Amino acid sequence: MTKKVGVIAGSVVLAVVVLVIALVLTSVKKIDSAQVGLFYNNFNKELREEPNSEGLYFGLPGFQFIIFTSVFKTMSYPDLVPPIDGVCVMLTFQCLNKDGVTIRINISFQYRVKAANLKSVVDQFKDEVGYDKILRYIGSSAVHDSCSRFNTSQFQAERGRFQEDLTLRLVDKLQVLHCDITDLQVNNIQRPYRYDNSIQAKESSREDIEVARNERPQKLTEAGTTKLEAETEAEIILNNAKSQARIMLTRAITDAKAILDEYTKEADSYRALKEANNLDTQGFLAYMGIRAISNAKNPVRIGMKAPAKSSYA
Ligand SMILES: *[C@@H]1O[C@H](CO)[C@@H](O)[C@H](O)[C@H]1NC(C)=O
Ligand SMILES: *[C@@H]1O[C@H](CO)[C@@H](O)[C@H](O)[C@H]1NC(C)=O
Repeated sequence: MTKKVGVIAGSVVLAVVVLVIALVLTSVKKIDSAQVGLFYNNFNKELREEPNSEGLYFGLPGFQFIIFTSVFKTMSYPDLVPPIDGVCVMLTFQCLNKDGVTIRINISFQYRVKAANLKSVVDQFKDEVGYDKILRYIGSSAVHDSCSRFNTSQFQAERGRFQEDLTLRLVDKLQVLHCDITDLQVNNIQRPYRYDNSIQAKESSREDIEVARNERPQKLTEAGTTKLEAETEAEIILNNAKSQARIMLTRAITDAKAILDEYTKEADSYRALKEANNLDTQGFLAYMGIRAISNAKNPVRIGMKAPAKSSYA
């Protein structure tokens, strides 16, 4: 009898001990050094206003902490997808700029929830997973907004301004999330390859034009020299021709004078002959005709046409 009572009492004690241990375990919660937690009681749905920092906490059974990270975390676009089969998969992040050109870009920033507003955050977004998800969407919309304010040449020349604009926009948009932002990194801004190729082609054409422009004075000088040479040569040829013509003219005049002299002398000697023989012109012509025939080496047979004749009397 007493033995049975003892067994029952033992079992009860054991059960109580187990229950107490279980109660103690569910009543103790720990918050790590890099965390902040908001007290929440699952039974009466009590959510406290004040956040709790690092420590070991005891409370009524069923209480818990909704835990957030209290140090800065990094949000990246494109997202670093959790390892799949040990391989990190990276996607690209793209936005359209003011010109409608697709820009690939890498952006990251550091953020931290404001502990003082933790209750409002939990009311709206439930927990850190929900919070991070919304933050990613809002951050991405800020990037798209900034992207659409800058044209392609500004992406090239004014990266600093883009970064400033994006920081302001992020701070502004993430205000509703009670979020602190420290740093923003913008990396690896890439335009479409075809766009870059066209820019390069344009650049090299510009250089070619510049080279041609620089060469122009030299080419002009060269052409001028060639023209001058041709003109000089032409002048030489012309001068040569003129002096040749002068020489030929002089020679012709001399020849003409010589021929005239010869005929003049002949005329003179005929006149002398005519006077010496006391001939008139008709007699003289007949004399000349007879002399020409008698001086001939071969026999002469002639039929002279008028006015040539052997006698003019
Ligand atoms: C940008 O992101 C791409 C794609 O995720 C990655 O391959 C590249 O290494 C990143 N570049 C920089 C400079 O972070
Ligand atoms: C880009 O924007 C700047 C500043 O608004 C402007 O001066 C420039 O002409 C624009 N460039 C193009 C290609 O539209």
